[in-house]
Amino acid sequence: MKQCVIQMFILSLSIIFTGCDSNKQKQTTRHMNTEIDKKVDSLLKLMTIEEKVGQMNQYNGFWDVTGPAPEGGSAEKKYEHLRNGWVGSMLTVRGAKEVRAVQKIAVEETRLGIPLIIGFDVIHGYKTLSPIPLAEAASWDLKAIEKSASVAAAEASASGINWTFGPMVDIGRDARWGRVMEGAGEDPFLGSLIAQARVKGFQGDDLSAVNTIAACAKHFAAYGFAEAGKEYNTVDIGTSTLHNIVLPPFKAAAEAGVRTFMNSFNELNGVPVTGSSYLQRDILKGEWGFNGFVVSDWASINEMISWGHAKDKREAAKIAAIAGSDMDMEGNVYVEELAQLVKDGVVEEAILDDAVGRILKVKFELGLFDDPYKYCDETREKEVIGSKKHREAVLDMAKKSIVLLKNKNNLLPLKKEGQKIALIGALASDKSSPLGSWRIASDDETAVSVLEGMQKYTGNSLNYVKGPDVALETTTFLHEVKLNTTDTSGLEEAINAAKSSDVVVMVLGEYGFQTGEGRSRTNLQLPGVQQELLEAVYKVNPNIVLVLNNGRPLAISWADEHIPAIVEAWQLGTETGNAVAEVLYGDYNPSGKLPMTFPRNVGQVPIYYNYKNTGRPVDKDDNVFWSHYVDVDKTPLYPFGHGLSYTSFEYSDLKLNASTFSVNDDVQVSVTVTNTGKVEGKEVVQLYIRDLVGSITRPVKELKAFEMITLQPGVSKTVNFVLNKEALGFYNNEGKYVIESGDFKVFLGGSSDTVLEADFTLE
Ligand code: NOJ
Repeated sequence: MKQCVIQMFILSLSIIFTGCDSNKQKQTTRHMNTEIDKKVDSLLKLMTIEEKVGQMNQYNGFWDVTGPAPEGGSAEKKYEHLRNGWVGSMLTVRGAKEVRAVQKIAVEETRLGIPLIIGFDVIHGYKTLSPIPLAEAASWDLKAIEKSASVAAAEASASGINWTFGPMVDIGRDARWGRVMEGAGEDPFLGSLIAQARVKGFQGDDLSAVNTIAACAKHFAAYGFAEAGKEYNTVDIGTSTLHNIVLPPFKAAAEAGVRTFMNSFNELNGVPVTGSSYLQRDILKGEWGFNGFVVSDWASINEMISWGHAKDKREAAKIAAIAGSDMDMEGNVYVEELAQLVKDGVVEEAILDDAVGRILKVKFELGLFDDPYKYCDETREKEVIGSKKHREAVLDMAKKSIVLLKNKNNLLPLKKEGQKIALIGALASDKSSPLGSWRIASDDETAVSVLEGMQKYTGNSLNYVKGPDVALETTTFLHEVKLNTTDTSGLEEAINAAKSSDVVVMVLGEYGFQTGEGRSRTNLQLPGVQQELLEAVYKVNPNIVLVLNNGRPLAISWADEHIPAIVEAWQLGTETGNAVAEVLYGDYNPSGKLPMTFPRNVGQVPIYYNYKNTGRPVDKDDNVFWSHYVDVDKTPLYPFGHGLSYTSFEYSDLKLNASTFSVNDDVQVSVTVTNTGKVEGKEVVQLYIRDLVGSITRPVKELKAFEMITLQPGVSKTVNFVLNKEALGFYNNEGKYVIESGDFKVFLGGSSDTVLEADFTLE
C-alpha cells in the first residue's frame, strides 16, 4: 500500500455515503451578504407561507395566454394560482408577447408582484440550431462550444426566456441510453471543461444582460448510469464511480458559477435523488458551497411515490423540501402540501426561507426585479432570432463537430469536377431529422439538407435517389418515430444509380427523434432496412462514402470492414448540409474526435476507454480464463478520442522535465507533432496518464490534458503540458481527494489509442 502524501478534504468526515439521508432538517448557506442578499431578506420578511411556497412552484405553460383561457381542468387552476402569487416560475412559455402576458399577471395582479423566472429546454440552440450536444463535444473546441451556447442564449433571451435547463452534464457510457445525445460523452475531464464552457456561454459575464440566461447543470446525479441504458431505470453505482466519474462535471459547473441545478428521475443506491439530502445538501450546497437553487425534474418529487420512497404526496413534498429540492417542476406537490406541512411543524419554515431565498436571489441577479419585461422586446426578438451571424456561428460549430472515422485510400475529399456522384438515402434530403432531438422552439423542415449542401457544388453530376424511408411517420406530439423495418421500395433505383456512378455518397443512420429522452434502444445497428440498402449498393459499387447521422455511438462493424470512407456527421442542426458538403469536398478539413467509444456490437456496451485493468487483462497462456468475450474482439470499433484528418500527423520526442517528482512539483511534458501530409490540418493532441498502483484501483488511462493545434504541411510544433497535483490524484471511497506516491505512465497521441508513452515516479 502506498503512502498517502496529500489528503484534501473534499467531503467532511462526518458524511458517510449510505445512511445519510435522514430527515434531519439541515441548513445550508446561500447567504453571501451581498446587496442582493439584503434585498432577498427584506422581501422574505414580507411573504406569507403560501407566497413562499408559491415561489417554489413551477408550472408548465400549455395555454395561449394572449388569447382566451381554456375552460376547466388544470389550466384554470394554474391561472388562479398565478393570480394568487402561488407560481414562482413557468417553463415552456415562449415568445416575447406570450412571456410578457404571464409576467404581467405575476407582476401586476399578485400582492407582492414578484416576477416569474421563465425556463425552457434550450439544449442545442433555440430556433437556429447548433449540432446536438454530443456532436459539439466531438469538436473538443471549448471556445466554439461556449460561442454556440451564447448564440442559444441570445435567441432564447430575445424570446422572453430567462433560464435554460442545460447543460446536461451527465457522463454517458452506455450508447443504449437515448440521452447520451444531450451530454458531452463518456469522459469526466472533457465533460467538466465542456460543462464550464456551456455555463459561460449561456450566462456570460453578466447575468442581468439582456442576451444572457441562467444555466442549469443536470441531472444531479448519476442519471447517465441507468442500468442497461434503460431510460428512468435504477442506478446502483459505487462510491469510486460516483466521485471520480459522475460528480466532477457537476462540480466544475458549480465552480463556473452555474446558477441552478436540476435533480433527476433516477434513484441512486436506493434513494431517489430528488429526495437525497446527501447529494443536495451535503455535497452540492454544503461542500461545494452552491448558492443558487435546485429545481426538481418534471414531477420527480411525485415519482418518489412510485419508487416506493414516499407513501403519498405529503410525504414526498416533505422529503424533497428537506433534502434541498428548492422548486417543484410541474408536480403540484409543493403547492398542495408544503404550506400545511410547515403549519403542522413537520417542515421548518427555515427550509422554505432557504429555498425561496435562493430562487429570489437568481431572479434579482437576472435583473427581473429592475425590469420584469426586459426580455420581452418584440423588436429585438425579430432582429436576433435566425440572424445571419447566428447562422454563421452554427455552421462553424457544425463543421467542427464532424469526425472522419475512416478514409481508405483517401477517397475523401471528393474531386470537385468531372465525377458522377450518386447520393443515396432518405436522410440526405430530410430537412427535419438533422435538427435532432430537443428542439422545441425550432421549426420543422428548416435544416439545410445534405442534398441541398451538395447541390451547391456544381462541377460534378449529382444524382439523388432517396431509397427506402427511414421513418414512416413521426407523431406531432412528442415526435414518436415509427420506423420503416420492412418496406424496401426505392432499393432498385438506388442500386441502378450506384452502378452508373464514380462515387456513391450514402447518408444513413438514426432519425432525429430516435435519441433523446425516452428513446433507449437495445439495437445499435443502422435502423430499419438501411443495412440491407448499404450492402445492396456495396455489391454494385464499393466506392462508397458513408455519412452517418446519429445521436449516439452506433455498432457499424460491417461498414467499417467494407466501406472505404465513413464520416460521422451526427445531427448537426440548421446548417447540416452546408457543413457536410464542405467537409466532403475538402473545403473544410475535419478535426473532430469521438467523445464516446464506438462498440463493435451492442453486447460490448457499456464500453469506455478509462476502464479498469482487471486481474486478468490478457490471454497469457492461450486459454479462455481472461477478461473478454469469446465472440468479439476486446477492443472497441473506434476508441474515445479517435478522428482522422485529410492530412496525417506524426508524434515524436515525448519528454518529461524529470523522472521523479514530489507532490508539489509540476510535471512538465512536451511532445512534437508534425503534419506529414499535404494540406493544413488541425489536431487535438491528447495527454493521458495511468497511476499504476492505487489504494483504489486506477483506470488504464485517464485524459488529463489536450490542446488543439493547426499545422501547415511539413511543419512541426512542440506542444507543452503541465500536470499538477490536481491532475494526479483521485477521490477515495470516503469522497476525499488523495494523491498517492508511486509510478505513473504518461501517454501522448491523437486518440485514447495513443502512440507514445513515458514513465515518472511521484515520491
Ligand atoms: C424532463 C427532462 O428530464 C429534463 O431534462 C427537462 O429539462 C424537463 N423534462 C423539462 O422539459
